[in-house]
Amino acid sequence: MLSEKTQKTILELQKVYPEARSALIPALHIAQAEVGYLPLETQAEVAALFGLTVNEVNSVVTFYDMFFEKPVGKHLIHFCKNASCMLRGSDGLLKQLCSKLQIKPGETTADGQFTVIPSECLGACDRAPMMIVDDKVVGPVKEEDLDSILAAAKKGPGHPSPLGHIEVNHA
Ligand code: FES
Repeated sequence: MLSEKTQKTILELQKVYPEARSALIPALHIAQAEVGYLPLETQAEVAALFGLTVNEVNSVVTFYDMFFEKPVGKHLIHFCKNASCMLRGSDGLLKQLCSKLQIKPGETTADGQFTVIPSECLGACDRAPMMIVDDKVVGPVKEEDLDSILAAAKKGPGHPSPLGHIEVNHA
């Protein structure tokens, strides 16, 4: 169940926009920051706050790969599998990365540290093959760099939801 503070923040956030439903994406970020992911129960709570159906909220959650319906690791690796990166060897790199982490693409490591998410173009084709590790764009990635990239990520704080800290002061 979402905390009273989170519910209040979401309701206040709705007042910032001419149409309350325009606040849905930031509201989902806030909910995800509290729960860690967006299970259907949380989506239903958010839907109720907006007067929307769960299906309407779910269609937004499943459209964006920044929202998660299942728990994810502390560190997120969005790994580009699109054309420019594929032409520069991303398929082999993804295999290597997943082999090092002992997971399949889309899975989370047993220790809960990393989730690897194969993604469409991440908008940095000039750095192909590339990935986004938590909030950092990394590339061009070479196979021999993978260990140091993972080690550097482990030292970081992880992937806080971009709006998880939001405070809404609506006069
Ligand atoms: S194709 Fe990989 S960043 Fe564009």
